[in-house]
Amino acid sequence: VIKMSDLDLAGKRVLIRQDLNVPVQDGKVTSDARIRASLPTIKAAIDAGAKVMVMSHLGRPAEGQFEAEFSLQPVVDYIAAQVDFPVRLASDYLNGLDANAGELVVLENVRFNPGEKSDDEALSKQYAALCDVYVMDAFGTAHRAQASTHGAGLYAPVACAGPLLAAELEALGKALDNPARPMVAVVGGSKVSTKLTVLDALSKIVDQLVVGGGISNTFVAARGHNVGKSLHEKDLIPEAKRLMDTLDIPETIDVRVGTEFSDTAVATIKSVDQVADNEEIMDYGPQTAEAAAEILKGAKTILWNGPCGVFEFDNFSKGTEVVARAIAESDAFSIAGGGDTLAAIDKYGLEDKISYISTGGGAFLEFVEGKVLPAVAMLEKRAKG
Ligand code: 3PG
Repeated sequence: VIKMSDLDLAGKRVLIRQDLNVPVQDGKVTSDARIRASLPTIKAAIDAGAKVMVMSHLGRPAEGQFEAEFSLQPVVDYIAAQVDFPVRLASDYLNGLDANAGELVVLENVRFNPGEKSDDEALSKQYAALCDVYVMDAFGTAHRAQASTHGAGLYAPVACAGPLLAAELEALGKALDNPARPMVAVVGGSKVSTKLTVLDALSKIVDQLVVGGGISNTFVAARGHNVGKSLHEKDLIPEAKRLMDTLDIPETIDVRVGTEFSDTAVATIKSVDQVADNEEIMDYGPQTAEAAAEILKGAKTILWNGPCGVFEFDNFSKGTEVVARAIAESDAFSIAGGGDTLAAIDKYGLEDKISYISTGGGAFLEFVEGKVLPAVAMLEKRAKG
């Protein structure tokens, strides 16, 4: 694909699709990882003398209408406080927009536009008409074929990959195409059902799979243990068994259980075969966490998605913390992705110790599954001319 760095942007109207879909609370950005990852692209375009416009979605507003809680204003305020060039939000831009070199214009949430999510052709052409160069830099939304991530690129005079998108594809390609071995994946989070295709894809690539969170509860149940009232999926026990037949998935040894799902619940450490009916597993026990850490120590490539317990409750955060620290301390090429995973990395201050932190959640998983990301397919098509 064509890269932004290959092009001369001086004086050009450059429209960059980024993923500035960040959590916002009471009008304030509460996690800035995606903004931080996106800023170098904006700065590079400004420094190159372009007239820079950025577009993004935020949240999932009702199709095609303005909703104040999904405005990009908090993101604009956040960026404005970080940079030394002027930044403004444009709400009315579909019929044309004057951006000046040296300033950043952020277009209001693209999902306020009817036709955005359906990749509408007329809307795509309106976006395309705003620019001389369209830059796709939103890795986190590259799995969506929508007007701002896909259609706009088809009709823009020139379409290219931004530096963040290019870096993501390179890092993930490096981990998946020819990984240094042993390769270990850590897949946590609540449900097997939402990650079954990823688990299947990983079963063909990795040497060992460490499961955590609600996902591991289903595996615990599949090994014949009582899981009490733990979050788990009974109907996926056969799938868990099938995965255990093809893949080295270390057994859970001990667990931390509570009797209620709350941040004041007391954690009790139990052997995995001692869980009572009124208890729920909310974290690894210390031996399980140490065993996972030991495996990670010997890994040469690590892929991590999903926490290993209810890490937002301090009493049940140890397992995720031990695993996160083991990944940070290993010499492996390590990749982490997904919103909760990033929040855990943030919580323990390990950003600098993971080789690559992906800004993608769903996109990260789809890439790992080997799916073609529509935005990338569009860029490849444009590169062929
Ligand atoms: C994400 O947070 O995964 C991306 O920004 C995509 O958001 P979406 O799932 O609402 O399309």
